[in-house]
Amino acid sequence: MDRRGFLTTGLAAGAGVISAGVPSAKGQSSEKAKILGINCSPRKGKTTCKALETCLQAAEQVSSKIETQLIELGGLDIRGCNACMECKKGLKCSIEDDFAKLIPTLADKNVAGMIIGTPVYFGTMTSQCKAFLDRCGMFRFNNWIFRNRIGGTLAVGSMRNGGQEITLQEVRTVLLCHDMICVSEGKDTAHFGATLVSGGEGGIEADTFGLKTAGNLGRRVAELALLVNSGTAGA
Ligand SMILES: Cc1cc2nc3c(=O)[nH]c(=O)nc-3n(C[C@H](O)[C@H](O)[C@H](O)COP(=O)(O)O)c2cc1C
Repeated sequence: MDRRGFLTTGLAAGAGVISAGVPSAKGQSSEKAKILGINCSPRKGKTTCKALETCLQAAEQVSSKIETQLIELGGLDIRGCNACMECKKGLKCSIEDDFAKLIPTLADKNVAGMIIGTPVYFGTMTSQCKAFLDRCGMFRFNNWIFRNRIGGTLAVGSMRNGGQEITLQEVRTVLLCHDMICVSEGKDTAHFGATLVSGGEGGIEADTFGLKTAGNLGRRVAELALLVNSGTAGA
């Protein structure tokens, strides 16, 4: 069976296999596939935000069937998981903080892709990113809500070799625990996700290669979101 055949029969036609995004019946849905960009910097609107905006704009350009939403964790009070396991009884958390506001958006059945963007802090993700990802455990415990969503990762550091790739790997590890489908940033830069440098002359706006990886990541996540949901392989 060729790749197109596998995708059609193995993914789209498998009853109950596809849980993310638009319904799998080809061309029969008017609903859009939603891609969430989650900025895990404590600083709203700064370099990681700019990188994610580039990424999401590129995703929207793939097709009119794609819509995007940027979620800023900066300014939100999201504490670490306390392992009470209350969330095993439903999409609820015993911690009373701002995570509750995000639950409906994260659980939306039209979300077909999620791009996690984080600054690099000492070679890894921010504590805001880790707290957010740990709290997302509830979506795994309740019917694997993130399963088959397309996962993309983006990291911004001030240094060229500041730990972006290590950070991507660590975030991707969490997405794999949700049975998400993790992708690289796709051609023509295809490696491990979007990596950007904010500390050079001219800031992140001058990091043309990094911004290219961000755009490529958005396009790749969008392509795959449509592919998985329609069962038709793209070019
Ligand atoms: C506590 C802390 C640790 C950091 N560690 C690293 C690092 O290990 N590598 C790196 O390249 N940049 C590091 N940085 C710089 C940030 O990753 C960089 O400034 C990034 O662009 C910030 O993203 P933002 O503008 O979205 O907040 C660190 C910054 C802070 C505050």
